[in-house]
Amino acid sequence: MENFWTKLPKPFTVLAPMDDVTDNVFRQVVLSAGRPDVFFTEFSNADGLVHGANGIPLRKLNFTPDQHPIVAQIWGTDPVNMEKAARIAAKLGFDGIDINMGCPVKEVVKKGAGAGLIGSYSLSEKLIDAVKKGAGGLPVSIKTRLGRNENIAQEWVTFLLKKNIVALTVHGRIAKQMSKGEASWEEIGKIVKIRDRIAPETLIIGNGDIKSYAEVLKMQKKHGVDGVMIGRGIFGNPWVFVKDLKPVEHPKKDYINLLLRHIDLFKNTWGESKNFAILKKFFKMYVKDFKGANSLRIKLMEAENFEEVRRILWSLD
Ligand SMILES: Cc1cc2nc3c(=O)[nH]c(=O)nc-3n(C[C@H](O)[C@H](O)[C@H](O)COP(=O)(O)O)c2cc1C
Repeated sequence: MENFWTKLPKPFTVLAPMDDVTDNVFRQVVLSAGRPDVFFTEFSNADGLVHGANGIPLRKLNFTPDQHPIVAQIWGTDPVNMEKAARIAAKLGFDGIDINMGCPVKEVVKKGAGAGLIGSYSLSEKLIDAVKKGAGGLPVSIKTRLGRNENIAQEWVTFLLKKNIVALTVHGRIAKQMSKGEASWEEIGKIVKIRDRIAPETLIIGNGDIKSYAEVLKMQKKHGVDGVMIGRGIFGNPWVFVKDLKPVEHPKKDYINLLLRHIDLFKNTWGESKNFAILKKFFKMYVKDFKGANSLRIKLMEAENFEEVRRILWSLD
């Protein structure tokens, strides 16, 4: 079936879902630096979406029209609510629905969700079927890891690929590793071979530790993935999605301008309702690697409101 996934260039790039980071505001900042081929929302809890009409889970599904194609990522263990959540996301105008089957955070795994689903074949099957039903024809994808406490990727991914999903993102670590050690792209390469055999139509998106567009191309060439998802690489280089093989050295003023844009978008989108402290965690992404960066960052961290931050930044030469 035709959908946005089938029209993407190869290799395509995806901004990874990162909870409390890649919100509507951050995605607009990324857009102004360099567009990924696909956006994902942060993961949004299905039970919360169904029961809490205007709460945080729904806020996580805000997006602006220029973010298409954008995929809503949902998580949960109740097939009924997952179906309803997919229906809610479809109504909001998303281009696809992704099921989180890889989150290693204790509170999520304890509930049997996220990476807690890895190896849980019967429940996972019910959830996938339910989300497909709720998605009403929108493409359904899955994001997962190589295993929970050990690597069971061969068996796990074979099962997922037999579920006829449009795309599968594989973060090349097991859940127990959290973000430690190196992501295994060799293992991702093995998954591509399984895909070739049993589900040639499903796109494989590799994920883990990618920091540049040159690495995106390298991983496609070496391991045969269709797309590459980048998460933390955006913190090191906000221009990581610019399809340029020669990395451009951005001057301090580019970083400061991007930070100013982030602050304005943050204030205009969330108002004072979202804690000012949440904004502060982004300062280190923009204020680094230039002369005076440390003292400037300290000054910004001590600021008490948006106006003060703006004043400090405007007074820079
Ligand atoms: C702060 C943070 C929040 C994350 N939240 C999510 C999430 O909501 N859903 C998800 O599937 N993965 C989440 N992840 C995992 C990333 O999407 C990605 O798989 C992981 O960071 C590895 O890719 P990277 O090395 O490019 O960052 C999160 C990662 C980080 C660092």
